[in-house]
Amino acid sequence: MKGVLLAGGRGTRLLPLTKLTNKHLLPIFDKQMVYYPLLTLCKAGIREVLILTTPQHLKDFKKLLGDGNDLKMKLSYKVQKEASGIAHALALSKSFVGKDNLALILGDNIFEEDFSAAFKSFKSGARIFLKAVKDPQRFGVATLAGKKVVEIIEKPKNPKTNLAVVGLYLYDARVFDIVKNLKPSQRGELEITDVNNWFVKAGEIDSRNVKGKWMDAGTFESLVSASDYVKKNRDKFAL
Ligand code: G1P
Repeated sequence: MKGVLLAGGRGTRLLPLTKLTNKHLLPIFDKQMVYYPLLTLCKAGIREVLILTTPQHLKDFKKLLGDGNDLKMKLSYKVQKEASGIAHALALSKSFVGKDNLALILGDNIFEEDFSAAFKSFKSGARIFLKAVKDPQRFGVATLAGKKVVEIIEKPKNPKTNLAVVGLYLYDARVFDIVKNLKPSQRGELEITDVNNWFVKAGEIDSRNVKGKWMDAGTFESLVSASDYVKKNRDKFAL
């Protein structure tokens, strides 16, 4: 399985911190944010990762992480010229992934769980990861019937459940055909939720609950609380 890590975007919710640098290079306690999703992929057994970022920040990521040797990983890089959505960025990883399965992770998602078993048992279709949250309207929200995923709605005003779809997704390589046929949403982006709903309709998606802490460090409050959490639980986030 290959890893695809998204570290692009404009980071507008974190201005002016993101005026000079990329959101994923901001500190979470003692490391840059990008280390945490990289660590999640590494712990789960993934060694080859493509990092997608903006043209202006590419050299900073290369300077920080290089070819990944220090982490015993093999890193490569590609630029996403416009912020056109998660699914658009995913499409850019087609030649890197080839016919393999892939784990897509958003660069501002911080997990403490070891996902090895969930990655190993994944064979085909799609797998999403869910976490019960207090503010589901900020996320993609899933409805389940028993264990079956029946619907995902992106940032619903009146969420039917409190189950946020976190920024970690497993797919087989058919995902690239699905992304090709997507239409931009109202916010002008190719939405990962539309990709996931394709797999819902096809009956080829399943879900796992995230164990332990999950943080999306894309806002000032979550940036501070993530730093604080890592400070208090350093052993869980050691490189
Ligand atoms: C994105 C996805 C959303 C998901 C979230 C997880 O939202 O669109 O479905 O729940 O990541 O972090 P964004 O961070 O782009 O608002």
